Amino acid sequence: MSEKNDETLANLLKEDRRFEPPADLTEHANLTADAYDAAAKDREGFWAEQAQRLTWAEPFTQVLDWTDPPFAKWYVGGRLNAAYNCVDRHVEAGRGDKVAIHFVGEPVGDTRSITYAELQDLVSQAANALTDMGVAAGDRVAIYMPMIPQAVVTMLACARIGAPHTVVFGGFSSDALASRLEDCQAKVVVTSDGGYRRGSASSLKPAVDEAREKAAGLGHTVEKVLVVRRTGQDVAWDDSVDVWWHDAVEGASTSHTPEAFDAEHPLYVMYTSGTTGKPKGILHTTGGYLVGASYTHWAVFDLKDDDVYWCTADIGWVTGHSYIVYGPLANGVTQVLYEGTPDSPERGRWWDIIEQYGVTLFYTAPTAIRSFMKQGREIPDARDLSSLRILGSVGEPINPEAYVWYRHVIGGDRTPVVDTWWQTETGAIMISPLPGVTAGKPGSAMNPIPGVSAEVVDEEGNAVPNGSGGYLVLTEPWPSMLRTIWGDDQRFKETYWSRFEKLGFYFAGDGAKKDADGDLWVLGRVDDVMNVSGHRLSTTEIESALVSHPKVAEAAVVGAKDEDTGQAVCAFVILRDEAGDGGDDIVAELRKHVRKEIGPIATPRQVMIVPELPKTRSGKIMRRLLRDVAENREVGDVTTLADSSVMDLISSGLTSGKGED
Ligand code: WTA
Repeated sequence: MSEKNDETLANLLKEDRRFEPPADLTEHANLTADAYDAAAKDREGFWAEQAQRLTWAEPFTQVLDWTDPPFAKWYVGGRLNAAYNCVDRHVEAGRGDKVAIHFVGEPVGDTRSITYAELQDLVSQAANALTDMGVAAGDRVAIYMPMIPQAVVTMLACARIGAPHTVVFGGFSSDALASRLEDCQAKVVVTSDGGYRRGSASSLKPAVDEAREKAAGLGHTVEKVLVVRRTGQDVAWDDSVDVWWHDAVEGASTSHTPEAFDAEHPLYVMYTSGTTGKPKGILHTTGGYLVGASYTHWAVFDLKDDDVYWCTADIGWVTGHSYIVYGPLANGVTQVLYEGTPDSPERGRWWDIIEQYGVTLFYTAPTAIRSFMKQGREIPDARDLSSLRILGSVGEPINPEAYVWYRHVIGGDRTPVVDTWWQTETGAIMISPLPGVTAGKPGSAMNPIPGVSAEVVDEEGNAVPNGSGGYLVLTEPWPSMLRTIWGDDQRFKETYWSRFEKLGFYFAGDGAKKDADGDLWVLGRVDDVMNVSGHRLSTTEIESALVSHPKVAEAAVVGAKDEDTGQAVCAFVILRDEAGDGGDDIVAELRKHVRKEIGPIATPRQVMIVPELPKTRSGKIMRRLLRDVAENREVGDVTTLADSSVMDLISSGLTSGKGED
């Protein structure tokens, strides 16, 4: 375990606050304590039962085929349409007038409520339009959009015609978009002229134009670009490629018959950072994924028919996929979809929305909670948040103080907080309290949910005793598990399954601890992946971006503790000889370069120009030591360094005032 984790472990030992589930919630809970036993006794039977939440065009004949691990097949022989399950069946059940989406644009007053019947029309139109543009089952469609209803409609339209989508976060650069377009060979891109963020219109279409050109340079041609007019900004237009949404979609027929696809038909590819520079395209398929998303959303949020749900994630991340689109819509919820930032036009915007729509279930990230804590409780206190009944947290470990503040100030001490641990790869929540069953401990994700088997193990894969830490693994396959890395089965095996190969465990890349009661505390990554504001970034990816700058010879990136963002990107850079001292603006220049190469979220908080990097005799960069420097700690044990004077060199370079931004 790293030193960072040891420190967290020590802090956890002091945490003994505990919150019992409210009695009325327990009394009417969707899942009760017996579900744990039932699932443990007959895991596959349990998952067969959960699959009945969906409508199957053809029933499955086998729950799980695990004869060729780690390649799983769930719900073998079953056929279904994901969009039908998320939309049409609710209309057929007489719930067409129920609001599916309360859209709230960032400009105040820009709202639109869409019922399930209207959503069915919109999705059908988009499915017809995509088909007319030449998209067929199996073709990939990239989505690069703001948080507007058309983004959700596009995802569902793709699912409806069996064309796997890949949503690329709108904050990513054209380079990042281009590499994803090329990797999954996207035929069509759906985008918008722009969206509203922080009080102004930001553009998206120009990045698509650039990315299309860059992808062409890599040998891949994007055939069509479908563009929503959101802001009315001027956009460059190529008639042979670009198509307006209002022409193609709004003019299309509202009738479309969904085709049933095999349970293992690819639903989407979501790119995420790994320990190498190249992002991994995580592949999710239809049946198992939808069962996982729907079941967990219902169980963990104790979903009831009259709930108003709001998840603040962006659809560019997996949380937006599982807990804005597929889980909630499969469950027929009414939810809020908000386009903008929490503080636009002013700091209480989120709380205004909760008050206005009577939000009952709220799901957000610790980084947001910490920023609200800093602003002070007067802001939420000035709003009526009494509609809230359950609060969720996801994306990074939630520190106990943020948990308690969230529960106390936002939840009025009534609401359980569910700290949900999962990953892009797991597709759905794996570890979380059940709000009507499990007591909450601030900072603990508690237990694997019924149907999921997780363990904390040592290097050899043995379960650690209570009170100890180790590696977090999933010991049995689960329906919403990733099926592979797009186009790279070998990397899939190596990344997730090789570490505990003999035992057949999935290695999550996180460290965790079991407390005296056996409850789980996830401590964060044990590999070279950082978590900045709940977003995964790879150290290597940012290092490659830095080294692509002509003045840079070598770079090492670490994630250093940050009060606001959890971790922050800190870069140590050696300049090329011919670059001299790099010039006065070298730090700003390098930060800008990373921003351009990857996107604003990857911009280093600090760039430190150093003469050397600490390396082991085998040449591996000792990030642990750099983290000490970045976190202003006494530098730890340097005995394994090839040249132990390096750290002195780095420190003296820094005190000469050259490094910090
Ligand atoms: C971290 C986001 C602690 C973890 C859904 C994981 C968490 C990575 C939690 C996945 C949590 C997510 N407690 N850590 N409740 N939730 N993480 O793929 O390190 O963007 O491996 O999925 O976020 O990030 P990803």
